[in-house]
Parts: sequence; C-alpha cells; structure tokens
Amino acid sequence: MKELLQALTPGERDWRIASRLDPKRLPAHIAIIMDGNGRWARQRNYPRIMGHKAGVDPVRTVVETCAQMGLEAVTLYAFSVENWKRPRHEIDGLWRLLRIYLRRELANLMRNDIQLAAIGRMESLPGFVQDELQSVMSRTAQNRGMRLNLAINYGGRTELVDAVNSILENARLEGNLDSLDINEEAITAHLYTAGLKDPDLLIRTSGEMRISNFLLWQIAYAELYVTDTLWPDFTRTELLEAIFEYQNRDRRFGGITRACASPADTASLLLEEEAIELPLA
Ligand code: FPP
Repeated sequence: MKELLQALTPGERDWRIASRLDPKRLPAHIAIIMDGNGRWARQRNYPRIMGHKAGVDPVRTVVETCAQMGLEAVTLYAFSVENWKRPRHEIDGLWRLLRIYLRRELANLMRNDIQLAAIGRMESLPGFVQDELQSVMSRTAQNRGMRLNLAINYGGRTELVDAVNSILENARLEGNLDSLDINEEAITAHLYTAGLKDPDLLIRTSGEMRISNFLLWQIAYAELYVTDTLWPDFTRTELLEAIFEYQNRDRRFGGITRACASPADTASLLLEEEAIELPLA
C-alpha cells in the first residue's frame, strides 16, 4: 500500500481514496470480468476490436495498481470457452492484441515483480499465442510479488471437469482408484488456481448481473462489485472505490457478525427446543 501512496500525488483524488483504505484489510485476490468493450466501440461507431484495444490501458492500470498495493493475486477474464462463438476476425484480433500486450508489458511485469500465469485450456490457442504466453510465464517465473492470472479459453465448468479428471488420473497412476474419496480440498488443489487464495472481490464492468462461468468454485464467498462503467472506461479511481466499498461490506462466510449476536443467542438456549417460540406458519 505504501508503494501506491508513494506513486500518487498527495491531495489528489486517488491519493485521498487510497489513504482511506485500511491496509490490513485489503483483498488478497481480486478477480475481474472485463465486459463492455463491444458496447464502448459501438457507442463510437468503431469496429468491436477497437473496444478491445481500448481495453488494454485499464488492464495495465489495474495490474500496476494492485501490485503497488501489495495484493497477492489478480485474475482477469480475457477469453472464455464460449467466446469462440464470436466472428473469426474478432477472435484473431484478440490474439494479436494479446501478443502486443505481452510483448509491451514484460518490462512492467518485471519492474513490478509480477508473475504471469495463463489459466484455461491453453492447448486450443493458436501456436503463436501459446509461445508468447510461455515465454512471458517463464521469464516472470522467479518474480515473487503479485501473481497475474490471465484467464484465456477459460470456463469455470471446464476447470472443474479438468480438476476431477486430474484427480482420477493421479489415482489411476497411484493404483488407488477403488478407495478414492474426493473432497473439497482435493478439488481445490487441482484447480488452475491451486495454491492461491480464493478471490475476495469480484468486479464486473458494464452492469451485467452475471457470473458468466467465471471461477465458479473459487468465488463462493467473494464480494461482488458490479459497475455500469464499460471496461475501456474503468479507471484506477473506480478500482480504489470498489476496494473501499469491499472494506465496508460485512463478510460473514455463512456465520453471523458479533453485532447481530444477542445475549439470548447462546448455544444452550438454542438447544432447548421448548425455549424457542416459533411463529405459527
Ligand atoms: C468482453 O467485452 C471482453 C472480452 C471478451 C475480451 C477482453 C479483452 C480485453 C480487455 C483486451 C485486452 C486484454 C488483455 C489481457 C491484454 P465484450 O466484447 O463482450 O463487450 P460487449 O458485451 O459490450 O459486446
């Protein structure tokens, strides 16, 4: 957090919002559904690819800001398994943009000590995209700061299928298929995000109230922040505002907050059935 405050100008808007954040309660992991590039382009009578191109700057801003805040991970939804339904020229344009981004961003990733990982079914991507990703992943592999996951050819359901198949394959190799007992820990350990904390905050731009098959397992308790802002217009200010709102949420993980507990809420009282007067249905 200190690094971000040092990079900002004291007194300016982002500095003021950042100063109000509690550095001890920052989200460890932020996931983002970057939506609205097409609508941004349509509003300007541009081809859709121009919207994606305009979406690269906010990627850079978000990644750098999160690294300066000292977050552990950021996961960006760049291309879903369903996105293959788009016109061929749009898909090809996205691959070219990704290559440009990776080439231009390597120096920034190194400077900010960021480790890049691609999550999704990489084997179906064009060879040149796989090569570029592989190159940046190996060159940033020793970085120990933030982890940047690019979800590419990613689907939450395919991730779960891959995790279960990987558990089965391991059991087969180890000869203990018959006694295999799959539990939550095993699935978590075989996800593409194994080893990372689950996202605390999921941001979606462009106002759509959908999860769109993103990190289905990992976002079980994530706080959702949906903004009408289209992705190319998403700024550092709004990122900081989202984190501010996150810090004002009451995260209960299925429990209750201390503020909601009353002296009567004692285990012994609740266990005595006659002590509870239930309203008639
Ligand atoms: C969704 O908007 C966006 C995508 C499918 C692609 C996201 C890609 C970028 C932000 C480009 C840069 C990314 C990287 C990682 C360099 P949409 O096209 O569905 O928008 P619409 O709903 O308005 O049509």
